[in-house]
Amino acid sequence: MVQRNDRASWITGGRVRCSDPPRTAPPKPFRFVLLGAPGVGKGTQADLIGDHFRVCHLSTGDVFRAAKQLSADGNASPNLVKALEYMRKGELVPDEIVLELIRERSRCMTCCGGFILDGFPRTVAQAEALSELLKEKGVSLTAVLNYQLPEERLVARLSGRRVCPDCRAVFHISGHPPRKEGVCDHCGGSLYQREDDSPESIRVRMQQYEANTGPLIRYYSHRGQLITIEAEGSPEEIFQRTRDALRQYLPANQ
Ligand code: AP5
Repeated sequence: MVQRNDRASWITGGRVRCSDPPRTAPPKPFRFVLLGAPGVGKGTQADLIGDHFRVCHLSTGDVFRAAKQLSADGNASPNLVKALEYMRKGELVPDEIVLELIRERSRCMTCCGGFILDGFPRTVAQAEALSELLKEKGVSLTAVLNYQLPEERLVARLSGRRVCPDCRAVFHISGHPPRKEGVCDHCGGSLYQREDDSPESIRVRMQQYEANTGPLIRYYSHRGQLITIEAEGSPEEIFQRTRDALRQYLPANQ
């Protein structure tokens, strides 16, 4: 099993620090944004990219899901509690809440190890705010990876997904089942089905994606940062496609 950064600075925000932050910066840290419909496999690819390029996986969805526990412990900010309501229904969390959450975690954008942003930005307003933030911090994106898959395949991936509440590992009941049913291979946590993977929430999430994705794709395409990748095949095949697409940005040994 690959030992992953606990992402405490990102998941919890505030003054919390990661337990094992990168100590030395690579000569050129990678900074990726992942785009794609719900269930296309962004989280799965983010883990593969993160392990390979040693960059931290920063998912806004993970922050909101972690807020559920914080909320139960009485430690979630009012904004995070509000965000959970939107998320349960499959709706996008309003930009102001997302952007406040990102600003609280802006330290992660300057982490010397680089990052993969998964699930943010999701609207043009969020993309513009990200661009301003990165400019302020004096860093720039390496590339924006846009994964594509037909809708019926997305629904099959989402409805069979099971996730670990403790280490956030992702499984699929038929495509990538855990060794023991209902138990996380990595940490022994009890796997669960996300609330927003219900048929009704999936329908709303697809609609929201359709409404916001076109302008966002155009935004990054106009800036020459967009790389589109077919998300058919196994996670490893898609990752190989990703590496091939990124070749121009990588040193010869990667
Ligand atoms: P978020 O957590 O970002 O969810 P999402 O974008 O809907 O994406 P998913 O996590 O559902 O799918 P994925 O593409 O990561 O797929 P995965 O790798 O898990 O956001 C959730 C909610 O939070 C939003 O709806 C919104 O409410 C809110 N939110 C978050 N960010 C926001 C923002 N910026 N603005 C506003 N609101 C925001 O894979 C899916 C399944 O497929 C798994 O079971 C996996 O094992 C399987 N799988 C993966 N790859 C393959 C493959 N190649 N072949 C077969 N199966 C595969």
